[in-house]
Amino acid sequence: MAAVPLVLRVLVTTRHMWTHRGPLQHLNGYILRLGKFSHQSKFQRKMYHYGTFPQGFSWGVSSSAYQIEGAWNADRKGPSIWDTFTQKPGSIPGNSSGDVACDSYHRLEEDFYMLRALRVKSYRFSLSWSRIFPNGRHPSLSQNGVDYYNRLIDGLLAYNITPMVTLYHWDLPQALQDLGGWENIDMINIFNEFCDFCFATFGDRVKFWMTFNQPHTIAWSGYGLGEIPPNVKNPGIAPYRVAHNLIKAHAKVYHTYDDKYRASQGGLISIALNADWIEPKDVNIFREVLAADRALQFKLGWFAHPIFKNGDYPDAMKWQVGNKSELQGLSNSRLPAFTEQEKSFIRGTADMFCVNHYTTQIARHATLRLSPQSYKYDHDLLEAEESGSPSTAITNQRAVAWGLRRLLNWIKEEYGDPEIYITENGVATDSKTTWDDTGRVFYYKTYIDEALKASDIDGVKVKGYIATSLMDSFEWLNGYKVGFGLHHVDFTNPNRPRTPKYSAHFYFRKDFIWSVSTSRWKRSQYLGQVCSHSSQSVQ
Ligand code: BGC
Repeated sequence: MAAVPLVLRVLVTTRHMWTHRGPLQHLNGYILRLGKFSHQSKFQRKMYHYGTFPQGFSWGVSSSAYQIEGAWNADRKGPSIWDTFTQKPGSIPGNSSGDVACDSYHRLEEDFYMLRALRVKSYRFSLSWSRIFPNGRHPSLSQNGVDYYNRLIDGLLAYNITPMVTLYHWDLPQALQDLGGWENIDMINIFNEFCDFCFATFGDRVKFWMTFNQPHTIAWSGYGLGEIPPNVKNPGIAPYRVAHNLIKAHAKVYHTYDDKYRASQGGLISIALNADWIEPKDVNIFREVLAADRALQFKLGWFAHPIFKNGDYPDAMKWQVGNKSELQGLSNSRLPAFTEQEKSFIRGTADMFCVNHYTTQIARHATLRLSPQSYKYDHDLLEAEESGSPSTAITNQRAVAWGLRRLLNWIKEEYGDPEIYITENGVATDSKTTWDDTGRVFYYKTYIDEALKASDIDGVKVKGYIATSLMDSFEWLNGYKVGFGLHHVDFTNPNRPRTPKYSAHFYFRKDFIWSVSTSRWKRSQYLGQVCSHSSQSVQ
């Protein structure tokens, strides 16, 4: 057979092309969503906007259990997959681990002190599943674990700080990994059992729940690339299967909350999805715009489309994975399908849109290889850094503030104008940065201003902003080499002293910065604050 270019083969030979919306419809959607920004000059993009967020806007900071708690085996806590991974020599730079981390399990008062000093309205933290159920199942319940979270929640409420609780921030009980982890469909009921217990136990006081943190990272980095636990390297199949289970597990937990707890507890529940903004390499070239749209659908849409739209995966994904699978000689798409019943169970299972955002990438079309099978190659595009923006302590995470406004607008248009909480946003500095983190102040100022533009100018319903993070902590594969904290933590000192960085003072004064920053007397008052607090340290 004469050599036929792959692109043509894709278009000519597949049965999927007739069953799903074709590329042009996606393109139209993208142009509609982005049209307002496509002619913005670089200068306009960077202009500063003065204004305020609406009344009741929720300012907060974040953490997660494995990153801060330490006490990895205290009081009957069971091991998680992160304990297993980090304790294996060579896994993390410097062989560091979360064994002690910030020791927050023993230092709640110090964490409260920082939160109060910041005057935040909310604190996002996660529950360590194996601290509550050491082997992942209810019969193993540890009252000590429950007591710890009760103390944390009660302490926050006593200081008028709203707890925002993530039920799963990556630290699966090892005993459940031994059953196959998220590849095992039984995990849907097992996770539901854990969440049901948490609603019953903490839901009288917790009114803001997130099921999973960044399911994309769990599925792709955990089961595709195999970089994070459980380190499964199966890039063509496992991420799709795992995501399928995660979406069903999320929906099940949402319904449990809805059916059993909402009426008496009156809280909200959602899922924290991560999304970079993806800008086309050239907004005037159709296929580059299409590639950027596809990238967003493959990352954010993978989870958001079923949950916020119609119970099903985005057309762009069904089209791409279906076609590639067929060209690979498979009889079924590697992307599993939901039944009609499952679709209606999944659709609408979130009360608000929670998004974690750090950076922007530039996408361009590329026809990628068929072998080996990979979620990544299924995208048919390449991504690059936004080279005009400042680099940060993490490669590939440039500070591209304007991307946040575009992302928020995209979410508004794509998902029917939901209420949006930015549940993570922040920047890394190297671990030597103990006080002077002006780069972080610049990052927060510019990113928050873009969120403000989205709210104030574009009418996006931005309801809250959570700075990542409260303090330097165990940064996963980066160990302690970088810190995202508003507070520095001295990890060489057994007392883990916490000290505010310059950015902590900035974040504390954000109200002033955004509303009346032109008045001179206020400016000197702010500088006075910075100076008077600069030696403050929590021991
Ligand atoms: C994770 C956070 C982490 C941050 C910076 C996010 O993807 O959800 O736990 O602190 O990245 O590494």
